[in-house]
Amino acid sequence: MVQFNLPPNSRVTKGKTWNAPADARRTREFRVYRWNPDDGQNPREDVFAVDMDDCGPMVLDALIWIKNNIDPTLTFRRSCREGVCGSCSMNIDGINTLACTQAVEDIKGAVKVYPLPHLEVMKDLVPDLANFFAQYQSIEPWLKTDTAVPEKEWRQSHEDRAKLDGLYECILCACCSASCPMYWWQSERFLGPAALLHAYRWIQDSRDEAAGERLDDVEDPFRLYRCHTIMNCAKTCPKGLNPAKAIAELKKMMVERQIL
Ligand code: SF4
Ligand code: SF4
Ligand code: FES
Repeated sequence: MVQFNLPPNSRVTKGKTWNAPADARRTREFRVYRWNPDDGQNPREDVFAVDMDDCGPMVLDALIWIKNNIDPTLTFRRSCREGVCGSCSMNIDGINTLACTQAVEDIKGAVKVYPLPHLEVMKDLVPDLANFFAQYQSIEPWLKTDTAVPEKEWRQSHEDRAKLDGLYECILCACCSASCPMYWWQSERFLGPAALLHAYRWIQDSRDEAAGERLDDVEDPFRLYRCHTIMNCAKTCPKGLNPAKAIAELKKMMVERQIL
């Protein structure tokens, strides 16, 4: 039987432990993945005791508290703190989600905070999303039209506008793609759930006139058809979207245009 071993330098080692401030009465334990590309060391898991009476209720608040009060080198992305920008996606308690909308009190025991899985780590909780955004760019996420641009606005009926519900809300946090086993293995060739959801969003837009071209672009054994409907993407999306359904609709459109 073939045995696969992780490279020794990928093993997560025991890191530093910081005790709670002496006057803290309500603390929670955070176990946080750390890795510094410049020190030649293995990744490690640091343990922080966070004073919840001195800190906001969300996991992102706790990370900011740690950075401000204990270790200023802790590195993570964040911007809006409202679940809108998609920057603070990470793996919390084993689930890909947004640190700014994940309440600490909803997690039992120690709060484990790791970067999104199966992406290169740049430092600590920051994954490399260059490929993810290049794939998003590849689906040409803008309105493409042949007719002349109207003087005032592109009109859309309420019914046509409603077709974009469940699609336009995507904040490109990458939680879905980083939860998809097919994307883990073939992220260079499979577009992944987020980019495919956006491809479908533009095809569904009544104002766009490039549906055929867009379908041609994704009709590929790897770009689209690597999706095996495992549904992790829909399960993990912090905005409650369903990329798997969008992908299924794309596949259906491919079949329909063969028939017509
Ligand atoms: S579909 Fe959901 S999980 Fe995926 S990138 Fe968009 S908001 Fe994030
Ligand atoms: S449904 Fe498709 S895109 Fe979503 S997790 Fe499964 S294989 Fe990946
Ligand atoms: S900080 Fe913007 S989504 Fe969390």
